[in-house]
Amino acid sequence: MPSKIRDPKSPIDPLDDPAVAVALDRNLALDVARVTEAAALAAARYMGRGDERAADLAASAAMREALSTVPMIGKVTLGGEVDPTEGLFHIGEAVGNGIGRKVDVGLTPLEGATICAMGAPNAAACMALAREGGLLAVPPVYMDKIAVGPGVPEGTVSLDASPAENVRAVAQAKGVPAEALLICVLDRPRNEDLIATLREVGARITLISDGDVSGAVSVGLQESGVDMYMGSGGATEGVLAAAGLRCLGGFLQGRLMLRNDDDRAAIAAMGIKDPGRILTMADMVPGEALFSASGVTDGALLRGVRLQATSARTSTIVMRSRTGTVRMIDTRHDFTRGETE
Ligand code: FBP
Repeated sequence: MPSKIRDPKSPIDPLDDPAVAVALDRNLALDVARVTEAAALAAARYMGRGDERAADLAASAAMREALSTVPMIGKVTLGGEVDPTEGLFHIGEAVGNGIGRKVDVGLTPLEGATICAMGAPNAAACMALAREGGLLAVPPVYMDKIAVGPGVPEGTVSLDASPAENVRAVAQAKGVPAEALLICVLDRPRNEDLIATLREVGARITLISDGDVSGAVSVGLQESGVDMYMGSGGATEGVLAAAGLRCLGGFLQGRLMLRNDDDRAAIAAMGIKDPGRILTMADMVPGEALFSASGVTDGALLRGVRLQATSARTSTIVMRSRTGTVRMIDTRHDFTRGETE
């Protein structure tokens, strides 16, 4: 039986034993939940205080500290800054306690820094883990996205079809009229044409001001009431949402948006060939993934942090693609014990 503790002098990783790897993955799920809880708790102290940078830095610091105890040899491959910026995560940053499997980490310690600073709904701390090479590295560009939940057969929607065609196809697959569908869209001028088309088709729309990881992942949870996610948002957020949907079931397609030469150069620097093509779930998250998100402010998926004088409650969704287990964790944190976990 191999030891679970890696001997740093040994070139052989005992965790290559698949039986051990499975056990490790199960435990990592709770570890990543603690990580997003820590980031959410830290960010929530800045709710409505008008300082998005302070909120972002607090979430990043708390996430980094919590990550330092997670048994893994982790590397941030998605969601960090390309050029190291004090206090924020950067691409290539080593995370974890250096013991365990090599994993790629995608993160957004505070998705929706602006909404947290305004005290508006839908801010969350999010993170995904995958084996080395298991999360597509994308630069900070926009991505056109479409996502549907597990009740819709693969191939029903495509970014090559028009928005109206996609809505009608989902309505038909679900056996409902288009008017019964609820579609989540990021409220941005660049999505105006899409919004107008959706209104013409008769679909209902929930416009979000920020936070499209939660928006896209919500299609995977029936209780959210959201049937589709459409429109453009961050590419990083697209890959993170694909990791979430890999766990929940459902599909997300993305297409990187090439607005100018800077975008083209950033995409080329990441080694992405044929940047205009549709990226499937298999391109973005080819294998197993873990996903966790904790609410900072109330949203469709998660409740925000409820802070009290000596305690706090957090709401977290943590899931694992291997088993499809989805845990909704409502945690009470007691600040009087000197340590939170
Ligand atoms: P930040 O917290 O990094 O600002 O991201 C919030 C967000 O709304 C994402 O959810 C979304 O993908 C992206 O910004 C959209 O970018 P933009 O605000 O430039 O339209």
